[in-house]
Amino acid sequence: MKHLIAPSVLSADFANLKRDIEMVNASEADWFHVDVMDGVFVPNISFGFPVMEAIKKYATKPLDVHLMIVNPDQYIERFAEAGASVITVHYEACMHLHRTVQAIHAAGCKAGVAINPHTPVSLLKDILVDLDLVLVMSVNPGFGGQKFIPNTLNKLRELKAMALAINPNLLIEVDGGVGIQNLADLIEAGAGVFVAGNAIFGAPSPTAMISELKQLNAQLKSS
Ligand code: DX5
Ligand code: ZN
Repeated sequence: MKHLIAPSVLSADFANLKRDIEMVNASEADWFHVDVMDGVFVPNISFGFPVMEAIKKYATKPLDVHLMIVNPDQYIERFAEAGASVITVHYEACMHLHRTVQAIHAAGCKAGVAINPHTPVSLLKDILVDLDLVLVMSVNPGFGGQKFIPNTLNKLRELKAMALAINPNLLIEVDGGVGIQNLADLIEAGAGVFVAGNAIFGAPSPTAMISELKQLNAQLKSS
């Protein structure tokens, strides 16, 4: 499958959100990555429904919603109504993860589960068959612009092997500290969806950086 690029709106200029959304629309990016933080599950608060609805109003690409919140179950339908295509909840935040995944599917969305840097991939074994996506956090969640944690590569390799055996269509997403400097290694380790915030919105030309990220994918694919 072709690798996907998901710019993280968290790093956009919120005073010029429409401009930044239109930049992503016109770029080679595939998804919008939308980070929702509640100040409880993570030590930061990002935004909620009004901003998500504003993004949806202008976005022409799927919204990949990453819920860094406790009790995500109570908001799944609302995120679906607000325009999510993919809803990803954290393994660490869900007491009854299978039920949560069923609820995401019942709301008409693709279901993802995210794991923090300390959470072993092996804990996903019995839920993997029910998932569309696993998001491997390569920084501790809560902030953009952090340094990539190298052990993520081992986790991706292990997850890729599990996915080949249990759910070959699984999308493997990596989130945090991703950029042109580590993209080739991450592709090689098995990831297929790349979230990038600071690497894209902090670049002199975000559009050119998105292209560069896509072209690197294409080069590896054809080699
Ligand atoms: C972090 C968020 C990420 C963040 C990535 O908690 O989940 O999506 O925006 O930002 P960068 O690419 O700057 O590390
Ligand atoms: Zn994220």
